[in-house]
Amino acid sequence: MTPDVRPLVAGNWKMNGLKAATSEIADLRDAVGRGENGAAEIAVCPPATLIAAAAQAIAGGGIALGGQDCHAKASGAFTGDISAEMLKDAGCAYVIVGHSERRAGHGEGDAEVKAKAQAALAAGLTAIVCVGETRAQRDAGEAMTVVSGQVRGSLPEGASAANVVIAYEPVWAIGTGLTPTADDVAAMHRSIRLLLGELIGAEGARTRILYGGSVKPANARELLGLPDVDGALVGGASLKAADFLAIAAAYR
Ligand code: PGA
Repeated sequence: MTPDVRPLVAGNWKMNGLKAATSEIADLRDAVGRGENGAAEIAVCPPATLIAAAAQAIAGGGIALGGQDCHAKASGAFTGDISAEMLKDAGCAYVIVGHSERRAGHGEGDAEVKAKAQAALAAGLTAIVCVGETRAQRDAGEAMTVVSGQVRGSLPEGASAANVVIAYEPVWAIGTGLTPTADDVAAMHRSIRLLLGELIGAEGARTRILYGGSVKPANARELLGLPDVDGALVGGASLKAADFLAIAAAYR
């Protein structure tokens, strides 16, 4: 945790969830209404097909919505894509960019991730910029170099603590049940913090740096209590409101 920085616990539903799953979002809204999220801000990033229904479900409540990706352009002939402006219009406050499943599965490099983050800022969204090394890169002792390269290459112009969140997600920890040691997480977050200071000055000290990759109720308290860890980006365990809230409970 960073003093005076409100932690963010964000759920990334990925390609999961039909209309019926909107009830999980309504349950979250109700739980946040009862204060079950403690000090944490809560955001949910459902698939695009559910954003409109989710926006209705959270109306008047204390949780935020996010998209999982956006196009770098505001509009145009880009079949199948969604712009940051559209996400904003649909009720989102956040958008995830540069998730490793997009970097690896869709060939997105730092320049494209930066352009998407830039589009997010232009639309008035906060960009959750994902970075993280592969297992091979960690084993080769390259984790810090890879991640700092991604942060440098993906951070949009005009980034500030108000419009950018960094999510450190080691690729090998995503969906595997594996996590780095607490020392490794703390060291990486410290290194990102120092780099942010170099890149955006005082704003870097207050920019939220989330940890992601197999965060579960059982490990949340340890991981989320580490210095420079300002919340979590949660995949699998965000699909059920009860599990997700049990993670946020680390901040109660
Ligand atoms: P996981 O996914 O929590 O299922 O490991 C995290 C993510 O990809 O954001």
